[in-house]
Amino acid sequence: MHTIDELQDKVKELFENRSYMGTPNELYEPIQYSLSQGGKRLRPLLCLMSCSLFGGDLKEVENSAIGLEIFHNFTLLHDDIMDQSPIRRGMPSVFNKWDTNTAILSGDTMFVIAYEYVTNTNPDILVDTLLAFNQTAKEVCEGQQYDMNFESEQNTDISDYMEMIRLKTAVLIAAAMKIGAIAARAQKEDLDKIYDFGILIGLAFQLRDDYLDAFGNVDIFGKAIGNDILTNKKTFLYLKAYENADLKTKEALDNAFTTNDPKLKVESVLKLYHSLGIESLTRSKIIELHDQALIILNDINRPESEKAEINNFLRHLIKREV
Ligand code: IPE
Ligand code: IPE
Ligand code: MG
Ligand code: MG
Ligand code: MG
Repeated sequence: MHTIDELQDKVKELFENRSYMGTPNELYEPIQYSLSQGGKRLRPLLCLMSCSLFGGDLKEVENSAIGLEIFHNFTLLHDDIMDQSPIRRGMPSVFNKWDTNTAILSGDTMFVIAYEYVTNTNPDILVDTLLAFNQTAKEVCEGQQYDMNFESEQNTDISDYMEMIRLKTAVLIAAAMKIGAIAARAQKEDLDKIYDFGILIGLAFQLRDDYLDAFGNVDIFGKAIGNDILTNKKTFLYLKAYENADLKTKEALDNAFTTNDPKLKVESVLKLYHSLGIESLTRSKIIELHDQALIILNDINRPESEKAEINNFLRHLIKREV
């Protein structure tokens, strides 16, 4: 068994001094930039955590864990172009520091590097690992497309939103845990349970991301606050606001969202979110998803001490500021 601290150290070790450089320099430098910034490294951590939960040998899943993180960073390079996000992890995003073409091509290369790592896996688990990874990679793109479609759609509801974030965010978190369990040679039934658990914590994770995009602190969160408002994202906050608004407030929301001045737009939307109690509604939904995840975790037949470690980690994750 491994404590979360041990797993965190292990993840740190996996990425320490890892070079992604090559020629031409213009292609690889942004990759090095992105992957040496850190970030929370959540997906590799969950991958190792799941492998440990099912009694596996962490060595067997290290390459997949690295590949999952590189894949995640690839999605961020492209996502920042799509969302016109100027900052990430407190630094200029890749398309902002270089240009869009660079972010596209370096991102494409990261996608391939991610596969190089994931395929460097023990042959007896390679097919199952790749099936999980391939399905996920495609679903993330599907989610990203829904996210873009919804920007200009007016009839999106909360269930559309939940499905969109399941695809763009939760499936990768779930796959990271499933791949960890595959490496531990867990039973099919447990693979399904840990995947479903990962989906629920992934949904909660994206809700917290939406929350911080509106109510976070730029210096801690490392991303521009209000970017979802500026790009008319159909976030949980947006949809809950319209759901709870009376006719007059709906009109005020319409006016706020069609404001041209970016600073004023964010300010007026945030004011309406506050008055509608969106912060606490979002926090409640996150807790609801977390509680559902715990039911699944309890149902997994593994030592209580291991499950308590995971639970403890999640309690912090759902309250994260970064
Ligand atoms: C950002 O992911 C994209 C989302 C799915 C919300 P993270 O919040 O895990 O980003 P880093 O890697 O820690 O910076
Ligand atoms: C992230 O959604 C989903 C993916 C990157 C696949 P967001 O667009 O909310 O992520 P951030 O806020 O830019 O990190
Ligand atoms: Mg996005
Ligand atoms: Mg984004
Ligand atoms: Mg976001």
